[in-house]
Amino acid sequence: MVNLESLDLSQNNLTGEIPTSLISLSHLKYFNVSFNHLHGKIPENGSFLNFTIESFMSNEGFCGGPAHLRLLPCPNNSPQASRRKRFPRFAYILLPTALTVFAVIIFELVLIMAQRRSRNHAQTNPLPPTAHERISYYDLVHATNDFGESNMIAKGSYGSVYKGVLRDGSILAIKVFNLQVEGAFKSFDSECEVLRNIRHRNLVKVIGSCSNLDFRALVLEYLPNGSLERWLYSHNYFLDFRQRLNIVIDVATALDYLHHGYSSPIVHCDLKPSNVLLDQDMTGHVGDFGIAKLLSGGESKAMTNTLATIGYIAPEYGSEGKVSRKCDVYSFGILLMETFSRKKPTDEMFTEDCGLKDWVRHLLQNPELDLVDHNLITPPDENSTTIVQCIFKIMEMAVTCTVKSPEERIDIKDALNELKNIKVQFLSKLSHQKAKLKTKLPSSNVDSGMELADRLRLIRCLEEGKLQCVTISYLCSMVSFPVIAFPRLNYSSSCVM
Ligand SMILES: Nc1ncnc2c1ncn2[C@@H]1O[C@H](COP(=O)(O)OP(=O)(O)O)[C@@H](O)[C@H]1O
Ligand SMILES: [Mg+2]
Repeated sequence: MVNLESLDLSQNNLTGEIPTSLISLSHLKYFNVSFNHLHGKIPENGSFLNFTIESFMSNEGFCGGPAHLRLLPCPNNSPQASRRKRFPRFAYILLPTALTVFAVIIFELVLIMAQRRSRNHAQTNPLPPTAHERISYYDLVHATNDFGESNMIAKGSYGSVYKGVLRDGSILAIKVFNLQVEGAFKSFDSECEVLRNIRHRNLVKVIGSCSNLDFRALVLEYLPNGSLERWLYSHNYFLDFRQRLNIVIDVATALDYLHHGYSSPIVHCDLKPSNVLLDQDMTGHVGDFGIAKLLSGGESKAMTNTLATIGYIAPEYGSEGKVSRKCDVYSFGILLMETFSRKKPTDEMFTEDCGLKDWVRHLLQNPELDLVDHNLITPPDENSTTIVQCIFKIMEMAVTCTVKSPEERIDIKDALNELKNIKVQFLSKLSHQKAKLKTKLPSSNVDSGMELADRLRLIRCLEEGKLQCVTISYLCSMVSFPVIAFPRLNYSSSCVM
C-alpha cells in the first residue's frame, strides 16, 4: 500500500476530508479526487506538492494545500488560536467603519462589472461555458488499446492523435501531447483555454480533457473523414467543386465566429488544410488551437516567437510577431488558392520571390486554366465553364485576403459574404442548365428517375452524333429507360432488359 503510485477516486460521491495520512504515500504520482463532495484542508506536504488543481476540482470546498494550488487558507478554529487573536479594544471602533467603507467599494465594483457585462452581452451574446467532461487516463488507455499503433490517426507537431472507443461505444479522437517536445505544455494549455468557452458547428468539438503529472490529452469529437489536406492530395479521394466551396464557406463561418462572435476575439494563427477536418457529411470543422491567441482588449498582440506554418503565415506575423485577425484572413486566402488550384504554397515550383499568391495574381492577369485544379474540369462537361468562372472569382477574392499590408486585407465577414454570393450564382447557373436541358429532351421522353448528369451526357451525344453507342450502353444499365426517347436508335434486343 505504501508503494501506491496512482489513486483515482474521481466521480465517486465521496464526502468528508482528505486524510492527512496520505502524505506518507511517498510514491504517489497520480492522485485524483475531482468530482466528489469532499471539503476541508488539502495536505501540504509529500506527494501533494506535485498535484495540480485538476486533481481536486469540483468538490464542496477545499482550503489550504500547497501554495501553487492558490486556495484560500483554512480558518483556524482552535481555542488557543482564538485567544491569541483576541482583538485590541480600538478594533471594535475601527472595524465597523472599515467594513462599511469596504462594503461600499465592493458594491460600486459589482455595479460597474454588471454594467460592463451587460454591454458585452449585448454586443456578442456569448454562449454559456461548455461543460467538458473529465475522462480518466485508464478510460483512454482502454479506448485506444493502450495508445496502440493501429489506433493512431496522425502524428503531429506536439504529439499524436488516436481514435478511441469508450466503453459505451462512443467514438472519440484523443490528442495526446508529447510533453518532451518544447512548447507542448503551452500548446495544451492554449487549446484548453481557447476551446473551454467556444462552441460552433464549424469548430472541432472538445468533449473533455485528461491531465496528470506527466500526461496531457484532449478528447475531441471524432471526425471520420479526416482533414481537407488528405482529400486534396490523396489519389483515392476526390472533392468536387461544390464540396470544396461548401468547405471553404464552413471555414470562413468558423473564422467569423472566432473573430467576431465572442467578447475577446480569437486568432487561430495556424489555418491550413491539415487543420480543417471533415465530418461524415463533409462539413468542415476548424481544429488545432495549439497556437491560437485570445486578443483580450486589443486589436493586435506582439509575440516574441512565431510557430505558425511556413507558406500560410502572414508576413507581419512571421517577421514582427504581430498577431491580429488579419493574420487568419491571410492564411484563409492561401487556403482558398490551395483548395481550388491543388497547389501547396510549399510546392517546389514556388520561390521566395514568386510564391503561390504571386503565381495566382499573375495567372489572373493573363487568364490561364492552370489556375484551376484540372480534376475539377476533367472530363469537361456543361458545368465546366461555370466552375472556371466561379474559381476565378474566388481567386480574385483570395488575392485581396493576401495583400501585404494587414490594414488593406478584407475582413473575414466580407470574404464569407462573397463566397456565399458565388455559391448562389453557381447554383442558379446549374438550375439554368437543368432547365435548358429539359427543353432539349421533351419531358414525355425522359424518365423522371434519370440523373441530371446522365441526361447531360446524352444531350452531348445527341449533339455530337454519337447517340447510338452511348444510348445502348445506358439501356444496358438502366432498366426503366424509355426507348421512345431515342427514335433514331437501332438497339439490339440483347441489350434491352
Ligand atoms: N477530431 C479529430 N478527428 C479525426 N482526426 C483528427 C481529429 N483531430 C485531429 N485529427 C487528425 O490529426 C491530425 C493532427 O491533429 P492536430 O490537432 O492538427 O494536431 P497538431 O498540433 O499535431 O497539428 C489532423 O491533421 C487530423 O488528420
Ligand atoms: Mg495541426
